[in-house]
Amino acid sequence: MAERAFWEDHHARRRMVYPAEEVVRFVAYAFPRAEGRRALRALDLGSGSGRHAVLLSRSGFRTFALDYSLQAARNVRAFLAEEGLAGSAACGAMDRLPFRDNTFDVVLPWECIFYGDEAAVAGAVAEVRRVLAPGGWCFTNLRSPDDSHAAESEAVGPNVYLNRGEWDGLLFTVYDEEGARGLFADGFELVWFDRYLVTRRNDTARDAGWMLVVRKK
Ligand SMILES: C[S@@+](CC[C@H](N)C(=O)[O-])C[C@H]1O[C@@H](n2cnc3c(N)ncnc32)[C@H](O)[C@@H]1O
Repeated sequence: MAERAFWEDHHARRRMVYPAEEVVRFVAYAFPRAEGRRALRALDLGSGSGRHAVLLSRSGFRTFALDYSLQAARNVRAFLAEEGLAGSAACGAMDRLPFRDNTFDVVLPWECIFYGDEAAVAGAVAEVRRVLAPGGWCFTNLRSPDDSHAAESEAVGPNVYLNRGEWDGLLFTVYDEEGARGLFADGFELVWFDRYLVTRRNDTARDAGWMLVVRKK
């Protein structure tokens, strides 16, 4: 609940508008032909402002967005409307998705699936698998132990941290390479796996982790 209050406040104050470059590249790689996208259903999971819902809708997908925060869902609707794009947005939790089995052709949990303890993250991955249609794609990222969010946090388990810095109160889990691969070993085909490392604030902070493209078997 503390986490939900954090995100409500966050989304009342901040809005990201341009998509992550990695997500733009994923869409171009996995769905190169525009006409093929119109029949496909895409879920921007943990959508935040909806910057990727806008990308997905503009790219032609039938677009849905889901976020923990009601304010985020409102922001996504407003963003889509401002851009003259179709799509819907709702409030809900990653580990209890309000969708039927096999609903989506693509699920995009970007910068969000690692929030919570290991059981919560595993629950979210299981829900992604459930709502993806066979052959459906997921593109996501996981933090690794050298991400500097871990350094500003309190360790509450071997891989689980409670942030005490800018993102105070948010619980998240980090994964080494074996753990990251293992999280998606069951029921998915791993299509692409890579490391990312981005320094910020004049090299005093770093976003570090793993990017995965998987398809449901
Ligand atoms: C760092 S933001 C990323 C937002 C967006 N994916 C992007 O790339 O701009 C993380 C988002 O995940 C959402 N979130 C966190 N925990 C969640 C959960 N358990 N269920 C659904 N959404 C969650 C937050 O509300 C927040 O909007």
